[in-house]
Amino acid sequence: MNHFEYGPEGLACEDVPLARIAAQVGTPVYVYSRATLERHFTVFRDALELAGVADPLIAYAVKANSNVAVLKVLGDLGAGADTVSEGEVRRALAAGIPADRIVFSGVGKTRREIAFALQVGVAEINVESEPEMTLVADVAAGLGVRAKIAFRVNPDVAAGGHAKIATGKAENKFGVSFAEAARLYANASNNAALEPVGVACHIGSQITDLAPMREAFTKMRGLVEQLLAEGLSVERLDLGGGLGVPYFNMPEPPSPAAFAAMVGEVTAGLPVRLAFEPGRVIAANAGVLVSEVIHVNERPEGRKFLVIDAAMNDLLRPAMYDAFHDIRPVAPRPKAERADEATPYDVVGPICETGDTFARDRLLPPLAAGDLVTFMSAGAYGAAMASEYNTRPLVPEVLVDGDRFAVIRARPSYEEILARDLIPDWI
Ligand code: LLP
Repeated sequence: MNHFEYGPEGLACEDVPLARIAAQVGTPVYVYSRATLERHFTVFRDALELAGVADPLIAYAVKANSNVAVLKVLGDLGAGADTVSEGEVRRALAAGIPADRIVFSGVGKTRREIAFALQVGVAEINVESEPEMTLVADVAAGLGVRAKIAFRVNPDVAAGGHAKIATGKAENKFGVSFAEAARLYANASNNAALEPVGVACHIGSQITDLAPMREAFTKMRGLVEQLLAEGLSVERLDLGGGLGVPYFNMPEPPSPAAFAAMVGEVTAGLPVRLAFEPGRVIAANAGVLVSEVIHVNERPEGRKFLVIDAAMNDLLRPAMYDAFHDIRPVAPRPKAERADEATPYDVVGPICETGDTFARDRLLPPLAAGDLVTFMSAGAYGAAMASEYNTRPLVPEVLVDGDRFAVIRARPSYEEILARDLIPDWI
């Protein structure tokens, strides 16, 4: 469930018509619903509780939507943060998320990033390889601290979904094998600079079938039991993120309740604290991208291009993953529902490449220049992946709470954009 519904003034986010936000902030603009963010987090947490998972760490995957205000909404509910860069750790801290709820993941953390994470005291560093373990030990020894680490294991399970976001097969760059994990865990336990606290996995994103997750988690349980049997200390099992969301034309994903029930079953009786790294399932349907139609370009051969003011730099997912985002007109419902008048549009942005196409032959009610359209399910991996390609100002973000809203990231001015470039005095 989300809080984007048609009201008398058209599509609204909670009690604020999107048209009002577009008029005040301009387009394109991302709009997030605080109530939806909160609902998604609490549904996930309550489902785990109901399934008997005691006191889990729900470390929201910051990469999905890293706006500090969004992080604060979730952090205030008790969320931790799964981070993959010093920048993300800094964002989580800026949002008031305590360091002991921050997990630092990622295949290529630099010496500087590791030092920063150790200095602020993150809950754990998820180590992805033997060279990384050596690096973390070296940095920790230099700082005179003991680094809490978890080993990210690659469970060699195919999770389906788009190849560019599958991570759980042995050929992917992520994590160590089960055999390596057992060996490295024992090594780390004998290293004064390292304190292995657990193991972690994450097999992919937008997963719509619980079977591969069950398979991976069962293997992870086996690993925890093996390590415990070897007399090693294992306090945590991090099961990653990846639960899919309904993207309208996609297979219906399992509910958080079904996911939690499966987790409860697989981990029953295991004497460890569980951690999760959900991103998309919290943020995707809590946000939309609102854009204005610039032209309707009707070609003599019949194709109708809806040229809008959002482009691939603002929402990369269709260009990058052929992702489908439902597109809805913002205008009040009666007009939007005249399905018999629906026409196929190619919805495109202004960027000079063919990849800047959001949809082909998308059936939409008749639209004209100046009309507003909304990309649904854009709260995750939307603004977070935006760029200033074509020197288009980074798209702003707005958070709605009931009948009020605030800009939570302003659109930069051209002066700010140009001031970042420097001309050396030898040109
Ligand atoms: N944990 C780790 C280690 C991850 O790599 C990811 C996502 C997550 C958690 C969160 O996964 P989620 O619950 O959001 O599925 N840009 C792509 C998605 C990339 C996901 C990368 N890793 C997209 O727009 O679909």
